[in-house]
Amino acid sequence: MIPFADFKAQYAAIRTEIRQAIDGVLESGWYILGEQGRAFEEEFAAYLGSAHAMGVGSGTDAIQLALMALGIGPGDEVIIPANTCMPTICGIMAAGARPVAADVSEATLTLDPASVETKLTSATKALVPVHLYGHPCDMDALNALAQSRGLVVVEDCAQAHGAMYKRKKCGMLAHAAAFSFYPTKNLGAYGDGGAVVTSDPDTAERVRTMRNYGEDRRYHHNRPGINSRLDELQAAILRVKLRYVDTWNTRRKELAAKYLSALANAEVTLPFVAPWATPSWHLFAVRSKHRDALQGHLKEKGIQTLIHYPIPVHLQEACREIMQANAGDLPIAEAACRQVLSLPLYPELPGESVERVINAVLEFHA
Ligand SMILES: Cc1ncc(COP(=O)(O)O)c(C=O)c1O
Repeated sequence: MIPFADFKAQYAAIRTEIRQAIDGVLESGWYILGEQGRAFEEEFAAYLGSAHAMGVGSGTDAIQLALMALGIGPGDEVIIPANTCMPTICGIMAAGARPVAADVSEATLTLDPASVETKLTSATKALVPVHLYGHPCDMDALNALAQSRGLVVVEDCAQAHGAMYKRKKCGMLAHAAAFSFYPTKNLGAYGDGGAVVTSDPDTAERVRTMRNYGEDRRYHHNRPGINSRLDELQAAILRVKLRYVDTWNTRRKELAAKYLSALANAEVTLPFVAPWATPSWHLFAVRSKHRDALQGHLKEKGIQTLIHYPIPVHLQEACREIMQANAGDLPIAEAACRQVLSLPLYPELPGESVERVINAVLEFHA
C-alpha cells in the first residue's frame, strides 16, 4: 500500500525535538498567547521576509481576519477562483462579504486575471488568489488589476509555504496573506493553526486585536473581534517544524522532478510550472480525461490518490444562493474538477514508491 501521505514517518524523524517542545509548554503553565506564539510569529515572519505574522486558529480564520482587518465586510464582493476548496469561501463569508467565483487559466489552474475582469462590479472590493497546489498565481497581473480598481488583495497561501513568485516568497506579494498549518500542509501543526502575514503595521495591529475578542489592553476592547489564536503547543511544534520546511520542500521538488521526467510522454497532463514560479509542490495533480478509471487502476495497485477538488465552489450546494451560478459558467475550473488527480508526494515518500506510482500510471495508458 502506498498511502497518500505518511504523518507518522515525519513524526518519527523529529520525535525527540517535538516531545521536548511539547513538554516545555506543558511545564511552563502558559498555554495561550505566550512566549512560544510570539517566537513562532517572529521566526515565521523572518522566514518569509515579512514585518508581521500573527498566529491564528486556522487558515480559514486567517482569511476572515485578514479581510476584516483590511475593512472588507458586508456588502462587499470578493473574487476567488472556482476550483479552490471551501475554506477559502468560508473565510470570506465569515467576514460578512460575498464570494464571487472567477475562472482559472488553463495552464496553471490559478485565478485568471482576464476572468476576474469580467466579474468586477461596483461592489468588488477584494481578490483572494489561491496559490493552488503550491504554484504561485500570476501576481503581477492580478496586483496591477487590483491597483487600477483600488482593490485589496489577500493571498491564500494555505498550500504555498516556501513557494516563490519570481524572487519573493508567497505571502509577500499582496496587502496580506493567509496561511494554514492544517496537519497535511507543507508546514503542518498537530492540530489546527494558521497565520496572517502582512507588512503593514496597522493591519497587523488590527489582526492582533481582532483574533483576541478585539482586545487592545486587558478588558479594553477597541473593535469587534473573534476568538482565534494559535495556541502555545501548536506554536512550539511549528517552531521545530519550521526548521525543516526548506529541506522537506527540496525533497518534494526532487520527487516532483522525477514524476515530471518519467511521465513526460504519458497520456496525462502534467502540472505546468510558469516561468515566474518556484512551487512548494504541496500537491502533484495530473489531469486525465479518464481520471476516475485511472484512480481506480491506481487503487487496484495499492496506490492511494485524492482529488483536489471534485466540485467547483460555485456549484457547491452551500454557494447556490450566494453565487447563483450554473454548470458551464466557469468551464476551465469545471473541467479541472473532472480531470485532476493528485498522486502521492510527500518528503518521506520512498524513491521506490515513486517508481511504483510512475509504472502504474504508464501501465494504465499502455
Ligand atoms: C487553499 C486553501 N485555503 C484555505 C484552507 C483553510 O485552512 P484551514 O483548514 O487551516 O482552515 C485550506 C486548507 O484546508 C486550503 O487548502
